[in-house]
Amino acid sequence: MHLYGTQAINDKGNLTIGGVDTITLAKTYGTPQFVYDLALFRERARGFIDAFAQQDVKAQVAYASKAFSAVAIYQVAAQENLSVDVVSGGELHTALQAGFPSERIHFHGNNKSIEELHQAFDAKIGCIVIDNFYEIELLKEIAAEKQQKMAVLIRVTPGVEAHTHDFITTGQADSKFGFDLSNGQADQAFERLYKEELLQFKGMHCHIGSQIFETEAFSLAARKVVDKMAVWEKETGFKASVLNLGGGFGIRYTAEDSPLEPAVYVADMIKAVKKEAADFGIELPEIWIEPGRSLVGDAGTTLYTVGSSKEVPKVRNYIAIDGGMSDNIRPALYDAKYEAVIANKMTQSNEITYTIAGKLCESGDKIIEDITLPKAEVGDTIATFCTGAYGYSMASNYNRIARPAVVFVEDGQHQLVVRRETLEDLVKLDLPFTLGEG
Ligand SMILES: Cc1ncc(COP(=O)(O)O)c(C=O)c1O
Repeated sequence: MHLYGTQAINDKGNLTIGGVDTITLAKTYGTPQFVYDLALFRERARGFIDAFAQQDVKAQVAYASKAFSAVAIYQVAAQENLSVDVVSGGELHTALQAGFPSERIHFHGNNKSIEELHQAFDAKIGCIVIDNFYEIELLKEIAAEKQQKMAVLIRVTPGVEAHTHDFITTGQADSKFGFDLSNGQADQAFERLYKEELLQFKGMHCHIGSQIFETEAFSLAARKVVDKMAVWEKETGFKASVLNLGGGFGIRYTAEDSPLEPAVYVADMIKAVKKEAADFGIELPEIWIEPGRSLVGDAGTTLYTVGSSKEVPKVRNYIAIDGGMSDNIRPALYDAKYEAVIANKMTQSNEITYTIAGKLCESGDKIIEDITLPKAEVGDTIATFCTGAYGYSMASNYNRIARPAVVFVEDGQHQLVVRRETLEDLVKLDLPFTLGEG
């Protein structure tokens, strides 16, 4: 059994996280419940930040908050000197509500609305990552109207696509995001921006994929982007100062996954950028990255309560939990794999193979297929590991299921940071039908 971060087993045979008994948490806040191990989040954040600091490289480590966005996580991110990236007015609003320093907020998105762009200017955020030509024109208009400066990067597609252990170099990037680096679009974007006074062009951003377990793909992307910076500098004398290499650092969901330490990814990235900058004779740019999953993924655990069960003789044993695809869409969406335990039976031996099914009206609503656990009974607490990224943030009210509670644990203490939705919450946006009432 692989335990993450501060997870341990206490003398009752229960799973603990951050020194807190998960069975106590289940009783106190109910299930389903997301539990975040703050010590692990902080360790990962420091892993990335320290790796840049050790080599004296100017950097920003921006938490990609789409992985899990809530006031409390922005507060902890601020404590850890992270920057954050947001992809909507909603995430931006949440970060601002949390008091997150606006100069360390970066705004992404392929279709930011005019209102969202105004919101970003009004909050004086640190940087907007421009995705397309339409946005360049919108930003020019807004900056002129407000007579306000704004730092900008352009998002480029470098023709490197990476996922897990594979990466490919694609001739042309068929992506809804960004400007293609090789077909002249990135050059056109640069031309439209670098002489602007209010829009302060800083450099380029690329994001090459997710769950990446090797460093070569990042190095290759870095090479391509630095190469382009050097060409522009040669042609115009303009020195781009920022290279943002996005997120995508892999984490361990199951024994099949073999992630690298944050420091390893960073060290190889720095090496590649330094080499390329030296080869092309340009100054080393600031390096920015945007880890999401690798900051919050394995820090999160979901607690569920076992209800019904069903044995299909010689085929399968189902146990059903009180959540499912409404709090974790990833297995149904892309066949994501997870590990789980019975949190109140940590010292009992695994003897029965189960499929853990959710409670939603979809046959595909299964969290894990074929996992061997101790004998499960009604009322047991199932803990699914590594659910901290893209779990709560992708949660839905499908079947009008209330979204779970979120709890932070650290040093033996626990705190509710997002309360569970109530039935009242579920109907609070609904208005009665009145047409035809005269
Ligand atoms: C632009 C950008 N940056 C960062 C991330 C975070 O990726 P991950 O959670 O895999 O680190 C994403 C994820 O989709 C992204 O699109």
